[in-house]
Amino acid sequence: MRIDIMTLFPQMCESVLSESIIGRARKNNLVEIYCHNIRDYSLDKHRRVDDTPYGGGKGMVMQVQPMYDCYKAICEMTNNDNPYVIYMSPQGNVLTQQKSLEYTTYEHIILLCGHYEGVDERIIEEIVDEEVSIGDYVLTGGELPALVLTDSIVRLCEGVLSSSECFEQESHFNGLLEAPQYTRPEIWKDKKVPDVLLSGHHANIEKYRFEQSVERTMKKRPDMYKKYIKNSQDN
Ligand code: ADE
Repeated sequence: MRIDIMTLFPQMCESVLSESIIGRARKNNLVEIYCHNIRDYSLDKHRRVDDTPYGGGKGMVMQVQPMYDCYKAICEMTNNDNPYVIYMSPQGNVLTQQKSLEYTTYEHIILLCGHYEGVDERIIEEIVDEEVSIGDYVLTGGELPALVLTDSIVRLCEGVLSSSECFEQESHFNGLLEAPQYTRPEIWKDKKVPDVLLSGHHANIEKYRFEQSVERTMKKRPDMYKKYIKNSQDN
């Protein structure tokens, strides 16, 4: 899979995506990620990429031409005239684990990061397939959301996580939150690790973890619990 990020802050994205598990996945050629500076496509002698909004109002709006030329350049360099383009926006569909899993099946995704007061609406009409939000709050730009989305997709791609880092055990994978985890020491400040986890009895451990998952989800995320119960009744 290939992800191209169109941004005014490529260094910000690159520095995050060079580290840790995503950095390792890139080095191992499990995924290709490239960051493009939209400003490189400005035709203005001062490399401007924004202008004041028609109709007045506060702030600046990103102009359509540099974004479109950046998009076209990515299409040309990848020989692909139909990549899936996502605009990071607080107006978009809120990201879920299920959606991230779906995106892992796409061959080529472009993430467009907006800034200032937004982008000229015509770029959305012309190239964007979907708007995605990472939550109901507003950030200063699309870079952090694009990084969140990239991380959540890439870690689900085949071979990226080792079996010990496996995502199938973690919160949200099966619609439930993950059971509590413990490591050495066995007792800390009079708090003892639950006996069942020390028992070596795998069936009992699995049962305990499942019950804890259900109980936690019910308590911490009643909305998820409701969905989980409804899905189990439907299946
Ligand atoms: N840009 C600004 N805020 C955002 C959000 N919550 N999600 C995605 N993109 C954004």
